Amino acid sequence: MNLEKGYVDAPINPDLDIVAEIRRMCAEKNAVILAHYYQDSKIQDIADFVGDSLDLSRKAAETTADVIVFAGVHFMAETAKILSPHKVVLLPDLNAGCSLADSCPPAEFKIFREKHSDHLVVSYVNTTAAIKELSDICCTSTNAVDVIESLPKDQAIIFAPDRNLGKYINSLTGRNMLVWDGACHVHEEFSLERILDLKKDYPDAKIICHPECQKPIQIVSDFIGSTSALLKFVTSDKGNSFIVATESGILHQMRLANPEKTLLPAPPNDSTCACNDCKYMRLHSLEKLYNALLYNAPEINLDENLRIVAEKPIRRMLEIGKSN
Ligand code: 13P
Ligand code: SF4
Repeated sequence: MNLEKGYVDAPINPDLDIVAEIRRMCAEKNAVILAHYYQDSKIQDIADFVGDSLDLSRKAAETTADVIVFAGVHFMAETAKILSPHKVVLLPDLNAGCSLADSCPPAEFKIFREKHSDHLVVSYVNTTAAIKELSDICCTSTNAVDVIESLPKDQAIIFAPDRNLGKYINSLTGRNMLVWDGACHVHEEFSLERILDLKKDYPDAKIICHPECQKPIQIVSDFIGSTSALLKFVTSDKGNSFIVATESGILHQMRLANPEKTLLPAPPNDSTCACNDCKYMRLHSLEKLYNALLYNAPEINLDENLRIVAEKPIRRMLEIGKSN
């Protein structure tokens, strides 16, 4: 088996019913497919469970499957392995990284943390296991406020790695967390000018955004929330049209749940594209997923000492969710 490219590069019979074969192998191997909302719609449609990063980490911790096929990015599959060390965790393309996780290199972060040794470290799950090892508690965009509010009001906090989310939480909670200067390439790329131009064509459309977007986009937004919060908002709100400033994969579930509503992807700075895709999330395909199941590769493996330490801040986060 050739894994040189970061995925199984094996030919697939073009006459194969790939969806039926994937389902058959899942049943045979007791495998479950977990997919993030930012995946291609074909992958979302075949998944056993589609969700945001918090839902997916909960599913990974609870599943009774023997194999988890993770259609998401590397840190998500790594989180699944941290929580379910005895399961086989497959990531169909190992190149599915994350620009936000990469914006927080462990060696630099360790020095930063040592300089502020009286601070607790809250890290977004969009980090490597090496950053989780340096963290006291994790959060996602869904539970970030609950996690911060679970800490004493006078506790000094470092928040890493997303600067836009960190500052947004500071504004909601009245805290003054020290925020690491990291960002995600997708959410930094939305164009305020093009969003406002789109709004001129759809004056009734509500602008909604993920908190990883820059402040000017947040300011013009009618609602700010994680992917699952955005999905709930579109479904429960009385409005009929929405400009959605997050990775465009989420529009698939929004359209399935709200076929009568107009859902417009917010445009990025690059004027050749109408929507904004995560170049890492979109590396997976049905073919790579099929080969991953067939060959049981590429598999996520972690040093056990690192896994044990990285598990603590994630478990601490999951405990907070339980009491809400
Ligand atoms: P969610 O926490 O909404 O799933 O977001 C994950 C992510 O990668 C945002 O860019
Ligand atoms: Fe990472 Fe941004 Fe892609 Fe989310 S959208 S996985 S934060 S690069």
